[in-house]
Amino acid sequence: MKLFTGSTRLAGVTGWPVSHSRSPRIHNTWLQRYGIDGAYVPLPIRPEDFAATIPALAKAGFAGLNVTIPHKEAAFSVCDHVDDSARLAGAVNTLVFTPTGIQGSNTDGFGFLANLRHHGVNPKAGPVLILGAGGAARGIGAALREEGVPITFTNRTPERAAALASALPPAKVLAWDKREAALGDYALLINTTSLGMAHQPALTMSLDRAAGDLTVADIVFAPLETALLTEAKQRGLKPVEGLGMLLHQAVPGFAAWFGLTPTVDEELYKIAAK
Ligand code: ATR
Repeated sequence: MKLFTGSTRLAGVTGWPVSHSRSPRIHNTWLQRYGIDGAYVPLPIRPEDFAATIPALAKAGFAGLNVTIPHKEAAFSVCDHVDDSARLAGAVNTLVFTPTGIQGSNTDGFGFLANLRHHGVNPKAGPVLILGAGGAARGIGAALREEGVPITFTNRTPERAAALASALPPAKVLAWDKREAALGDYALLINTTSLGMAHQPALTMSLDRAAGDLTVADIVFAPLETALLTEAKQRGLKPVEGLGMLLHQAVPGFAAWFGLTPTVDEELYKIAAK
């Protein structure tokens, strides 16, 4: 059994609910692996209590927090400083409590790019088609834009895709019903919608028109292999699964709170996949 001391460093994840979060498993695996005197705990906080509780946790000695649904936008508002990743995404998933205040960042885009590279995929290989226009699309789109990659958003609700594209110029918009026909123009396809997730509707996305070197990435990680990724594999395209993004997005927070940059490896993947 792990023993805590008077100087145990504390971090955690807050959401409402939070019991489904895999982050405690990920961070506590790293703490154990590196022999760090630290703990990472789930913190269920009601939306109406969020703004008052976060500064109190900073005062109580926490090093920082991850933030998940539904608090990512509210987290932006409690920060004293936010970095470009948070500003571009309009949402914060990582809080670091410092002597000069609460710092917020959004590591979703970083995690997505790190996972692509982990799979040997160059994000700059060519134009990218992003399915969806929610928070995940925004974070990933912002990170890809930093890389100078041409981006196109397509979304069931076209107004949301248009709003996102104008926030990330020179991103373009494609009509949702054109997504299959236009696929041949892209080097990377990313599903950022909830379609294909367990208990959600299936994603309709034929890969018939894909170029032979298309990479297909899905941010859905339950199931680990979505129908989209199965189809990509069957066609000999490069699949990139979503769980890796979750693991990589955890790295910057851990490094900031516990002072060591952790490694994402097969063991961690298996523990998080359970
Ligand atoms: P997140 O912040 O996790 O990205 P979100 O803001 O709820 O979540 O975005 C979910 C995405 O999945 C949106 O792009 C949404 O499309 P709409 O903007 O049209 O709502 C997309 N999505 C969810 N259910 C869908 C469905 N049945 N068909 C097509 N797109 C869907």
